Amino acid sequence: MANEDPVFLRSLSGEVMARPPIWLMRQAGRYLPEYREVRAKAGGFLELCYNPAFATEVTLQPIRRFGFDAAILFCDILVVPHALGQKLWFVQGEGPRLEPVGDAKRLGEIHEEIDQDVLAPVYETVGKVKAALPGNTAFVGFCGAPWTVATYMVAGRGTPDQGPAKELFTRDPELFARLIDRIVMASIAHLNAQLDGGVDAVQIFDSWAGSLGEDDFMRWCIAPTKRIVDGVRARHPKAKIIGFPRGAGRLIPSYVKATGVDAVGLETDIDREFARTQIQSLAPIQGHLDPQLLRAGGTELEREVDAIRTSFGAGPFVFNLGHGILPDTPIAHVERLIAAVRS
Ligand code: CP3
Repeated sequence: MANEDPVFLRSLSGEVMARPPIWLMRQAGRYLPEYREVRAKAGGFLELCYNPAFATEVTLQPIRRFGFDAAILFCDILVVPHALGQKLWFVQGEGPRLEPVGDAKRLGEIHEEIDQDVLAPVYETVGKVKAALPGNTAFVGFCGAPWTVATYMVAGRGTPDQGPAKELFTRDPELFARLIDRIVMASIAHLNAQLDGGVDAVQIFDSWAGSLGEDDFMRWCIAPTKRIVDGVRARHPKAKIIGFPRGAGRLIPSYVKATGVDAVGLETDIDREFARTQIQSLAPIQGHLDPQLLRAGGTELEREVDAIRTSFGAGPFVFNLGHGILPDTPIAHVERLIAAVRS
């Protein structure tokens, strides 16, 4: 009998597809006029994340417009610290702000468990999206990895070098380990709730994994991620888990083996020959088109799409970007990309 699972899930199961499935990180976002319209109606970014009708609508917009093979829940990685009691707000044009948790007193104020009332609207969104998605479109949930989430919780904002979090784990590793532990437990609960609600796969975004040296990568990226994978598998043995330790490069094979993720995201800068021989041989891969090339478009974009397909097409592979889509990306370039990947 023909396999009727969404092609995205078949790739994550290790099947080699004639044409790779495609979706894009941040595919719901500011490059779409219909997103900007709903975003304006919601008033603010968090108001959008916590409004099930609006969040469902923007999750579905890129599926309707482009027919991507997967939808990603519209939300943010920072709702987890928010649900742990940390103040969170977004400054237009700048990004997230949180009340920093840099010492034992502040960390003591962070709750043991996530407040389900805060995240209830997110799980309501999961149910609504699931009910509305076409059967051949997979549904992806997500969380931030503990290291990346901790960098925002400690600094209270994005930082160029993750300095405040590094300073904390150097000065007081026990305190930092307690923070990581809280995030691990909260992330397991958050991913399991999304899986209960009907997402088919979850992605763990470790955007700042590349800023850690090898020993710190083992301790603060691999070990907590493995705990999340185990905690999710304990409740959802069949859930597909994609790890995305962005920038981890040569450490990615160790990450895949040690964490047990089903598939791994690749950053733009990775060496393709290394990725094919050392990573794709271990697990299905997802990535890694440069978002700037997508914005630029033209023949260079098409050449790069061909090169990526040639490198990775003989193994299990999901086409995606190496990082989120840029807000000033022309819609026509996304259309060209999809046509090229499906040709
Ligand atoms: O991929 C998707 O479409 C799903 C939704 C999603 C968002 N953020 C929506 C969002 C996902 C998966 C994220 C993950 C996320 N959020 C990460 C990890 C991935 C990465 O990009 O490195 C991080 C570090 C965050 C925290 C965050 N949220 C930052 C640093 C910012 C500001 C930067 C920016 O692009 O403005 C956000 C805001 C944010 N999250 C926006 C969106 C669509 C833009 C806000 C807006 O519309 O005003």
